[in-house]
Amino acid sequence: MSSIVVNGKTCEISRPGASLLAFLRSELGLTGVKGGCGEGSCGACTVLVDGQPVLSCQRQAGEVAGCSVTTIEGLAGSAGEPLHPVQRALIAERASQCGYCTPGIAVRAAALLAADPDPGDEQIAAALDPCLCRCGCYPRIVRAVHRAAALARDGNEGRPGPAPGETPPLALSSLTRPARPWDMSAPGERDWFGVLGHGLVVVWPPSAAGTWPRSGGAWLHVSAAGTVTAFTGKVDLGQDNQTALRLLVAEELAVDPADVRLVQGDTDLCPYDAGTFGSRSMPDAGEALRRAAAGAREVLLGLAAPRLGGPHAYLRAEQGSVICGLTGTRLPYGMLLAGTRQVEVLAKEPPLTSPSGWTTAGRPYAAPRADAVTGARHFVSDLRRPGLRYGAVLRSPAPGTVLRSADTAAAEAMPGVTVVRDGEFIGVTAGDPGTARRAVTAIRAEWDEPPPGPADLEAYLRTHPADDEGWQRAVSSRAGDPEAALAAAAIGVQATYTTAYLAHVPLETRAAIAEWEDGRLTVWTGTNVPFAVRAQLSGTFGISEDAIRVIVPPVGGGFGGKHGDEAVEAARLARGAGRPVMVHWSRAEEFQQGFLRPMAVIDVRAGLDAAGSITAWDLLDINAGANGFAFPYTVPNRRLRYQPAASPHAQGPYRALSATANTFACESHIDALAYVAGADPLRFRLRHLDDERLAAVLEGAAERFGWRPGWQPAGRPAWRDGQWVWRGAGLAVGVEKGGRVATCAEVLADVSGRVRVSRIVTAYECGAVVNPDTVISQIEGGTVMALGGALFESVTFIHGRVARPSLSGYRVPRFTDVPELDVVLLDRPDLPSAGAGETPLIAVAPAVANAVFAATGRRLRSLPLLPDGRVPDHERRGHDAER
Ligand code: FES
Ligand code: FES
Repeated sequence: MSSIVVNGKTCEISRPGASLLAFLRSELGLTGVKGGCGEGSCGACTVLVDGQPVLSCQRQAGEVAGCSVTTIEGLAGSAGEPLHPVQRALIAERASQCGYCTPGIAVRAAALLAADPDPGDEQIAAALDPCLCRCGCYPRIVRAVHRAAALARDGNEGRPGPAPGETPPLALSSLTRPARPWDMSAPGERDWFGVLGHGLVVVWPPSAAGTWPRSGGAWLHVSAAGTVTAFTGKVDLGQDNQTALRLLVAEELAVDPADVRLVQGDTDLCPYDAGTFGSRSMPDAGEALRRAAAGAREVLLGLAAPRLGGPHAYLRAEQGSVICGLTGTRLPYGMLLAGTRQVEVLAKEPPLTSPSGWTTAGRPYAAPRADAVTGARHFVSDLRRPGLRYGAVLRSPAPGTVLRSADTAAAEAMPGVTVVRDGEFIGVTAGDPGTARRAVTAIRAEWDEPPPGPADLEAYLRTHPADDEGWQRAVSSRAGDPEAALAAAAIGVQATYTTAYLAHVPLETRAAIAEWEDGRLTVWTGTNVPFAVRAQLSGTFGISEDAIRVIVPPVGGGFGGKHGDEAVEAARLARGAGRPVMVHWSRAEEFQQGFLRPMAVIDVRAGLDAAGSITAWDLLDINAGANGFAFPYTVPNRRLRYQPAASPHAQGPYRALSATANTFACESHIDALAYVAGADPLRFRLRHLDDERLAAVLEGAAERFGWRPGWQPAGRPAWRDGQWVWRGAGLAVGVEKGGRVATCAEVLADVSGRVRVSRIVTAYECGAVVNPDTVISQIEGGTVMALGGALFESVTFIHGRVARPSLSGYRVPRFTDVPELDVVLLDRPDLPSAGAGETPLIAVAPAVANAVFAATGRRLRSLPLLPDGRVPDHERRGHDAER
């Protein structure tokens, strides 16, 4: 038997034909090596073989016999040695969000620095380009490599212990399963103290029935040791809402954020929550936790009053203690709570600290996350349970296909394989993922195929309205008389804008583990809607929600797409097999079984008077949705309509929903109006804006960008890098989910029509900023993601099926696609905090489209704008000047 050395240890290779990735993960348990595509397109599986980066999914284990392999777990050397400079730099730069890509990037960066101790930006981008970061942390990763180079030059200062502010994660397994899910129990029934020890529990009750989005409130526990454990139904999919929520609790309770732990994503322990979507973490969970923490502070002040002797008015909370302002006596919370088992359910709103008076929240706070850079962060696909089996599901070849017959004999004959049939559902389980895939492929199935899908999607959506029900309700609003105003306009401009179906492409494909025990079901799955998944499982299996626990471990990206089908599949297979089962979708399943961002068809008509003022606006959105289509400019006559359509392809929520499509249409059209009015696009917008918050971000972005009025489309080229290039600048604004965004973009176009985005500046305002570092990270990552949809991302179809269901067939932004990014963050402590995960995306596409117009004179009205990197020859839909 041949062997290799892995992280300094010699290992026998039992199956030389297995992929190196499978060998490292399944046989050696080195789950820091991630799978993301299986075809060499994502870089998540990168390891070092004799010091060179290698994609482990593309090598058989036997091919590297006799070699030395280094994975992220061994990058720093043996335990107790200092972390590698790359690992320390990635932590210091907070260069990850979900962290799924981080191990592969870290080892590749280490190889780069070993070969070139001082690489420039271009060398770093080129070397790391095989690795994808769907969260868009590229600028921070490049900064981290520079920092690592400096650290390596200046010497090692040793492995940092838990850095200041680092809170050891709370092992959920240490919290025993309660008899009933806590969100279904009255506070008096809950066994708070058996789990967390003596102390104080404060409950902020659920929102009133009928309010939306419904929240189950919040609760927290202050221990006799002075640590705080807060519970929320929101989950963290890499957006780092956990740090912001900890800061809000720390602020109200006057404790160090490092002393606050957050329990998220466990339906047995956390308050009910409708889901982590719509940028609601701060408005929902943030506000509820603030109140619970402020209530706890008031209780602690009350407990301290008789012991400190001074009047209540002279007491204050500070640094985990109650202090008497008259005597200066200090009583730590721990002393107040020793031997206490007190539960307080708040009946009225406690006094809250105004954001303008925040001393902890509102400041950059970086919670170091070493687990992302050491391979110790375990995603669902990394978890193991005793007796775990691996599942695979028989898939239909196209949406709408009906199963006629299935012969499972060949699969059943395979050693160790169990076939599970449950109505229309057919799946298999096996002892390893490869055998499960081979077994499901061995099933001989016959299908009744549906007619091929429509070739002309725009025409189909226009002619197939959907039933007006559920969340897909038509919307129509009107002010003044837009038809009369359009007829009377001095200049009319009308055009149609379209956006493509998009895929979410989380780097970790959907995964779930299900385990049945004594009639109760536990599911570990990466989802943004754990309580909805609980309800879905309850409905599917006809058991009470009481008997179902959904736990959300770290998630390798979601972007609105992970809604729980894989949890139902795992639970079906686990019930049939009588063992815990993991279902982990392949990349092809991710494209074919997941739903897509809806395609948009948007008709816009607008009119100007002789003075160049907007007098009429009429927008019809077909299929995408009503988010972000409110017109932010002053116009006396307007009509806004959303018409749902019966999409031929499965579609659903995607980060920022329809606000991206509607803002693209609106801001492209405003730019066209400014052009025909002969006005500067910045001045034209400001002249029509009443929203002072929107005007402020627009002016902030324009100032940082260095906006110069008076450009001419396709004006004078400049000689750059050996060729003539045309520079174009564009801007756009957007309003969504309580935030205000403005984006300025610069593009460079050459004589062949090839266009490159060279610079983007985003100004964002989301009320009172809780953690500036997280908000900036979200703006940067969101901008990168939006660039993909703006420039080249698009799901295409052949006969109604996804044409290229792979990462090699669906381009997402990589290191070398990222332009210079700059962020202007406006803080408004006088306004409620809004989210930052979605709105920063929405003005990117129109800003780039407007910049392309400025550079080339070509008005591009379909996303993606540049699928082949060039301005399409045929692209000139609609016309700018009607009369
Ligand atoms: S490159 Fe190997 S899993 Fe993607
Ligand atoms: S942090 Fe890179 S994929 Fe999420």
